[in-house]
Amino acid sequence: MSISIKTAREIEKMRHAGQLLEKVHDELGKAIHPGMSTWEIDRLGEKIIRSFGCVPNFLNYNGYPASICVSVNQEVVHGIPSKKRILKEGDIVSLDAGLIYEGYHSDAARTHAVGEISPEAQKLIRVTRQAFFEGIKYAKAGHHLHEISAAIGTYAESFGYGVVRDLVGHGIGTHLHEDPQVPNFAQPSRGIRLQPGMTLAIEPMINAGRPEVRWLDDEWTVVTEDGSISAHYENTILITEGEPEILTLSHPEDTL
Ligand code: MF3
Ligand code: CO
Repeated sequence: MSISIKTAREIEKMRHAGQLLEKVHDELGKAIHPGMSTWEIDRLGEKIIRSFGCVPNFLNYNGYPASICVSVNQEVVHGIPSKKRILKEGDIVSLDAGLIYEGYHSDAARTHAVGEISPEAQKLIRVTRQAFFEGIKYAKAGHHLHEISAAIGTYAESFGYGVVRDLVGHGIGTHLHEDPQVPNFAQPSRGIRLQPGMTLAIEPMINAGRPEVRWLDDEWTVVTEDGSISAHYENTILITEGEPEILTLSHPEDTL
């Protein structure tokens, strides 16, 4: 597959898909509380997505059995919601969600605190979010894709964190996963030249400890090999001539 350049009409739809997904995340963020099951988060998320007349794009994607990926503590991504998994005070929970609006996909992730969390966990969440912003400083026409990757990785590693290698960001549009892949760490090549109209899902996955991950027997849930906690932050962005447009975040100055 080659990299698609979106037309003005397509960009309008991507924008709308992004704005609706931001609302999903805002609602889910407000709903998180100790005692809530990860299944309830999925139910609520899917309900909100469908209330917009949209379709959850993760549901049944390669057989994934839910609409929202809910990953707790040492779970990095793709946690499967379960009635038995109850959030407790001090946990961190990463929510990854996506939807389709008139054929166009959006994809975004946030990591939330459950009640009061440790200063170390707070810092991991903050740095993971900031790593995204360090990366998108290079997300402009004329720059090269791997400048984004290197900026994300270098920033996160400067705190001694492990940057996940086995999963990457991606192009997005009429499909959830399009070319190019967007790694979160420095690459030997500079990568493709960025052009206006490219839409990318940029998603640092950062471990408090080592970068290695493994897959659980459910074949989805990715966990840190060393058991350290992990955070995820993702937005769908649009490359323009100037500053990138963050389609899934309208107020970047806010904390989450
Ligand atoms: N945001 C993730 C990604 O970009 C989630 C998709 S995995 C799914 O790959 F299978 F759950 F859809
Ligand atoms: Co993604």
